[in-house]
Amino acid sequence: RHAPPGRDAAPGRDAAPGTGEDNPPMTAATQGLPAEDTATSLPRLLPRDGQRPEHWHAHTARHGRLPYRDRRGDLIGDLSAAGLTGRGGAAFPVHRKLSAVLDAAGKRRRAPVVIANGAESEPASEKDATLLWLAPHLVLDGLQLAAEAVGADQAILYTHVDRRNDVGRRLRQAIAERVAVGADRVAVQLAEAPPRFLSGQETALVSHLAGGPAIPTFMPPRITERGLLGAPTLVQNAETLAHVALIARHGPRWFRQVGTAAEPGSMLCTIRRADGAPRVVEVPLGMPLKALISDVRADQAVLIGGYHGSWLPAIEAVRLTLDNQSLAAAGARVGAGILLAPPPDRCALIETAAVVRYLALESAGQCGPCLNGLPRMAAALTEIAVGRQRGQTQADVERWAGLVTGRGACHHPDGTARFVRSALITFAAEVSRHQRGQCTGTSKRPFLPIPHGSARTEEDWV
Ligand SMILES: Cc1cc2nc3c(=O)[nH]c(=O)nc-3n(C[C@H](O)[C@H](O)[C@H](O)COP(=O)(O)O)c2cc1C
Ligand code: SF4
Repeated sequence: RHAPPGRDAAPGRDAAPGTGEDNPPMTAATQGLPAEDTATSLPRLLPRDGQRPEHWHAHTARHGRLPYRDRRGDLIGDLSAAGLTGRGGAAFPVHRKLSAVLDAAGKRRRAPVVIANGAESEPASEKDATLLWLAPHLVLDGLQLAAEAVGADQAILYTHVDRRNDVGRRLRQAIAERVAVGADRVAVQLAEAPPRFLSGQETALVSHLAGGPAIPTFMPPRITERGLLGAPTLVQNAETLAHVALIARHGPRWFRQVGTAAEPGSMLCTIRRADGAPRVVEVPLGMPLKALISDVRADQAVLIGGYHGSWLPAIEAVRLTLDNQSLAAAGARVGAGILLAPPPDRCALIETAAVVRYLALESAGQCGPCLNGLPRMAAALTEIAVGRQRGQTQADVERWAGLVTGRGACHHPDGTARFVRSALITFAAEVSRHQRGQCTGTSKRPFLPIPHGSARTEEDWV
């Protein structure tokens, strides 16, 4: 979404000129991963040659036909045994959400709606766009199987229809391939997510699909009870659904052959190292971070989990593994699997201030924390970054971070506060330098991606 077409194209990749396969959203990499063709080998989700999009025939040749169960609810037990959690950021157990939707549908005698969330509104992430580009059928299989499990009569694939890389055209083509062979039992509608940070939040998504602005709504009711136009609604991240499609085929035991006992399976990560180019890799949960960021210097910092995530000194990050149990000890979370390490010539403090300003502008401004807290935190961080902080600026930021946390209709203020707090701790030495009028950054080229044009009025979310 944020890269010019083909910027990330890997040399020698297998592309078909003129078919639209010559501009993948980014590079899918499998370097350093175990060898293929065993039960535990990766990638599971991405095509094995890394670059060629899997069309219907290649998809079915590799994965087989859709394993419909012909019984509502049947898959939920397998998902529970597999221990699959959502890959959209919050790591919520998938079987619990499906059960909630199934129960609500039974109680209210109303057929549910299932939605694949491919909005990927986090600017630093590329994993969903890459998955949807390279393996759209796996996500669409998961959507069908989730629809069957909860008895849904409507299925929606919600994505940023990336016009430059034309992911939308790729997805329309995939849906048409399925219609041609009668693969789907529930018709799939493709819906466009506005290019805003909040548009992927589940209540914002439901509001937008119902014809309103893509801004979060207040709970209760939960969307699993009353979501799109009042129907019980299941929203799962696109990658989560791809895992559902594989668990339905291979079972929970197979799924657990990689990952940790507490956090099983694999996940897609977007890694941005010194050159800034994103690489998507599929890795087992519990993988040592040092294997993923091996070229990072001890004095660098690593951002884990994206713009709602946490900065950590690299020296601390390399002792951790990619799972919430390990990261929690350092106050971090896996989130949607984003790992960023700005090169030593950039000032991550200045870049963080720019991102916080972006996050403050992207808030829907309908709750106190976002209306009052985020703009103040953004202004204070700018003061700190330009070396003009007053005696109480940092104490103010800390106080506002505490005040906004847990007080919004969604987790946008919580995530922003976490990001800001971790920056002030990790970059404490740089903050002092800035106070003395110094800065370690020598390049002004931005490293942390910020989309062009931030929301100013409500129309921007519609
Ligand atoms: C501000 C904000 C933005 C979000 N953006 C996305 C997104 O772009 N894609 C996504 O899958 N989930 C996003 N989420 C999480 C969704 O609300 C929801 O929890 C998720 O889609 C559920 O899928 P999962 O359980 O499979 O992860 C966002 C949450 C917040 C608070
Ligand atoms: S917390 Fe912020 S972003 Fe979330 S709904 Fe309220 S105003 Fe909007």
